[in-house]
Amino acid sequence: MKKTIVVTGGAGFIGSNFVYHMLKKYPDYRIVCVDCLTYAGNLSTLKKALENPNFRFSKTNICDRKAIKELFEEEKPDIVVNFAAESHVDRSIETPELFLQTNVLGTETLMDVCRELNIPRYHQVSTDEVYGDLPLDRPDLFFTEKTPLHTSSPYSASKAGADLLVMAYVRTYKFPATISRCSNNYGPYHFPEKLIPLMIINALNDKPLPVYGDGKNVRDWLYVEDHCKAIDLIIHEGEIGEVYNVGGHNEMANIDIVKLILKELGKSEDLITFVEDRKGHDRRYAIDPTKIHTQLGWLPETKFENGIVKTIKWYLDHKDWWEEIISGEYQNYYEKMYGDK
Ligand code: NAD
Ligand code: TYD
Repeated sequence: MKKTIVVTGGAGFIGSNFVYHMLKKYPDYRIVCVDCLTYAGNLSTLKKALENPNFRFSKTNICDRKAIKELFEEEKPDIVVNFAAESHVDRSIETPELFLQTNVLGTETLMDVCRELNIPRYHQVSTDEVYGDLPLDRPDLFFTEKTPLHTSSPYSASKAGADLLVMAYVRTYKFPATISRCSNNYGPYHFPEKLIPLMIINALNDKPLPVYGDGKNVRDWLYVEDHCKAIDLIIHEGEIGEVYNVGGHNEMANIDIVKLILKELGKSEDLITFVEDRKGHDRRYAIDPTKIHTQLGWLPETKFENGIVKTIKWYLDHKDWWEEIISGEYQNYYEKMYGDK
């Protein structure tokens, strides 16, 4: 059946991959991207989508209630999927307020408009970071959907705040929402400030690779396409009021990822530079994806060893995309964050 799906934050990393996934898989769906194009949103990412008559882009802030209401009244979406967020932990340590505004109040605004207009379905894209971190010496421990929220950074606190609000709306108003909490994603269109693209690009430019602390922090990496498929399943078959953890049991220490990237690119490990640790740095994230597997049949398809090679190749083939980004305002950010590290 034909559906209209609003994708907020669709000009960012995961949102844009989701837009492409949906346009390809559902040729009769209308996909409406709502994005205010912060530093992390890039219209050039959506160039191919913009050629598709089933796609519309609206430059709108999710906190702008009036504009969101007008747009939703016009489009009458069947489903709203909220990816829009401030997403970088290091930036949240510098400017927490912006994170609360977008991530908490933006979510509230979207849900209020959905309620007012009786939009039948809402999905909140959340993160495993809401569970805090796990110790490195307890590899038997994983985050399940029942793990208490226990945040470390202003970013994760703002995402947890949004999750709590979504659950409160489900209970209080019978709001038809689901939540997914995914582990770290990697793949095409990943903004260069995040670990994997930053290391690929610095290595290609023979610049130092800044590893925080001892480099032993562990993240659970998932290829972005697998995350998109999980959300696709949840919005079509998920149960209202439920939370689904998404992850592929692929834990890696940061330093091992950095060494792998250098090896793939034929660059020297001398480029690795250990720098001052992130404040409050989470040690380990690890998702237990049993629920989404047993209830919805989701399993990750891309193995890390293949996904990382595909990703490196993508960055080699799309220099124009990231060169444009790193030549602008990003330079100032890089100087500010890494200049004296
Ligand atoms: P991103 O920073 O690459 O993209 C965020 C997008 O949201 C950008 O296009 C930006 O312009 C837009 N945006 C920001 N504020 C907005 C606002 N007020 N109104 C409208 N648009 C706005 O982020 P991402 O990595 O693609 O993450 C997307 C979502 O997935 C986020 O909610 C994030 O918390 C979650 N998530 C990310 C990861 C990951 O590894 N990247 C893992 C799990 C969950
Ligand atoms: P990041 O990509 O920012 O994702 P998150 O903090 O949301 O997991 O960072 C991934 C890991 O890489 C995290 O442990 C911090 C580390 N890191 C570095 O060591 N150096 C860097 O320059 C960056 C950006 C991250």
